Amino acid sequence: MKEYKRYLITSALPYANGPVHIGHLAGVYIPSDIYVRYLRNRGADVKWVCGSDEHGVPITIKARKEGVTPQDIVDKYNKIIKDSFEQLGISFDIYSRTSSTTHAKTASDFFRHLYDKGEFIEQETEQYYDEEAGQFLADRYITGTCPHCGNERAYGDQCEACGTTLSATDLINPKSAISGSAPVLKKTKHWFLPLDKHEPFLRKWILEEHKEWKPNVYGQCKSWLDQGLQPRAVSRDLNWGIPVPVEGAEGKVLYVWFDAPIGYISATKDLTPDWEKYWKSPDTKMVHFIGKDNIVFHCIVFPAMLKAHGDFILPDNVPANEFLNLEGDKISTSRNWAVWLHEYLEDLPGKQDVLRYVLCAGAPETKDNDFTWRDFQARNNNELVAILGNFVNRALVLTGKYFEGKVPARGELTDFDKEIMGQVADSKKALEEYIENYRFRDALKEMMNIARAGNKYLADTEPWKLFKEDPQRVATILNLSLQITASLSIAMEPFIPFSAAKLDKMLGIEHQAWDRIGEYDILPVGHTLGKAELLFEKIDDSVIEAQLAKLEAAKELNAAAGYTPAEQKELISYDDFQKMDIRVARVIAAEKIAKTKKLLKLTIDTGIDKRVIVSGIAEHYTAEQMVGKQILVLVNLQPRELKGIMSQGMILMVEDYNGRLVAVSPEDNVREGTCVG
Ligand code: MF3
Ligand code: ZN
Repeated sequence: MKEYKRYLITSALPYANGPVHIGHLAGVYIPSDIYVRYLRNRGADVKWVCGSDEHGVPITIKARKEGVTPQDIVDKYNKIIKDSFEQLGISFDIYSRTSSTTHAKTASDFFRHLYDKGEFIEQETEQYYDEEAGQFLADRYITGTCPHCGNERAYGDQCEACGTTLSATDLINPKSAISGSAPVLKKTKHWFLPLDKHEPFLRKWILEEHKEWKPNVYGQCKSWLDQGLQPRAVSRDLNWGIPVPVEGAEGKVLYVWFDAPIGYISATKDLTPDWEKYWKSPDTKMVHFIGKDNIVFHCIVFPAMLKAHGDFILPDNVPANEFLNLEGDKISTSRNWAVWLHEYLEDLPGKQDVLRYVLCAGAPETKDNDFTWRDFQARNNNELVAILGNFVNRALVLTGKYFEGKVPARGELTDFDKEIMGQVADSKKALEEYIENYRFRDALKEMMNIARAGNKYLADTEPWKLFKEDPQRVATILNLSLQITASLSIAMEPFIPFSAAKLDKMLGIEHQAWDRIGEYDILPVGHTLGKAELLFEKIDDSVIEAQLAKLEAAKELNAAAGYTPAEQKELISYDDFQKMDIRVARVIAAEKIAKTKKLLKLTIDTGIDKRVIVSGIAEHYTAEQMVGKQILVLVNLQPRELKGIMSQGMILMVEDYNGRLVAVSPEDNVREGTCVG
């Protein structure tokens, strides 16, 4: 293993065109915060940089839609994102922005350096141009008919109906989203980074020298490399971004994926005049924390850029995570299917650590994972409250009761005492191993093992039964319990820093260095503890239900927005219609069919007879609601057996956009048996 002197940690720069949600947190920001806090607690020399990614086409589209400037959009979201990160305790050393002047110069100089070294290929291509608007069109700005599925509203980069990746020139009847006119192809010059040229180096560097990377990351890189790399354009025809610093490049900017990773460098410059030490010394360990959709840019494109430049180090690791789903569905910004951080902080004030804990416990480290509000509640109530909070509370309350809140002196130690303290020391080693290998879920479990050991210690020694006959033994037990509590606080800090700080206050101590975990004398004898409070509180069903209702509302809205009536069916003859005998009937009795969810057994008066119909409406109507109702029934439908009951006919219902069934009734009361026609 390589020995490093310092660390440079980067976390993917969030696009400043929307707030961050739990998927971003679980995938990137919580793992990196844990890693960095751990390093700091160990006294490492570490810098952690992040910031907003403020260029790119989606930001310009959003601005156009809202009738504001791109700068307005990024100002708005940069603030929301930065504030919400801060409130969650995400402890970047700097949260910068790619619209800063430092960044413009850094990115521009970087491009120019590569340009002067001859690291780019210049190439003319043909691209769509909007003659009315007088500008080239990004693929997203062109709509047309998908050549694969016929969807008339496909975008120039993708058809959202069939999911196919497209080129703007694939579209049938292309239209500009700016003016609505048909765009024309026009020649334009761009600069390309010849990734193919760097392929041999990348193969060796990743596939041979970084076999330790996570399998999902290594696998994606291998598949890219095995397909063969192509030159990639690093400029765009766009009026939002960093101008290409070359003569004759008017109206062209750096491609957002070229400038954004350079944002890590700019942020470090803004953070410290010593920035070069972190970017150019081979004894700096650089780690990029990202989500899986960013792998190719951080493992292939950016390293190729750094290598081509020549002055910079490459990352030691890129521990990318998979995706987090929400209540069984893909998180989607456009469908508002997400838990937004800024809303969570408002809805559940003071519960930052619960979110941090739950998202770490369910982080999508090796495969996609699901966040559910029920799991959130269970982890809080059964783990944070019942295990961690409970242990801490017992240790402090018992010391208050027997020793006036002062750390009592230990007597002789039993083998069991030493065994428990040994377990805490073992947990420390395991924690280090896990965190250093980016296994944060396992690390979190190990932190909880310290609380579990503490609970077991108290449960097995039962000091509350011993005080009368053996106060010295009780003193020993509580002294050790308090030392374990102090160790626990150190181990908690990377994961749940608010609670660690609260616990330190209860213990009446400053935060301690990582290496003290497992020590016997973190708290000196006679030390006065602070006031005991509850570390965590149970979360009620009502809180969870409110969050589920919020999601349900989003779903309703989407269903309504996405609803288009089914297309008209094939023509039929009047005779065909006449064959259907539809009549008014009245429900005279109704009952739920046992052991089914959906079925009601209805007895109806059709005017010609009384008969039974089995109908799948029980999730929408109760038996009581149906009795007495006049409805329309297709009476001459072939009878069929359902759950052992002969069903004779069908009740007419309409199905709303959201799946709700609504009965069809005559506008006014009419005689049973009257025909519809
Ligand atoms: N904005 C990108 C995203 O959210 C990430 C950019 S990371 C950087 O997917 F390296 F480019 F900065
Ligand atoms: Zn399509």
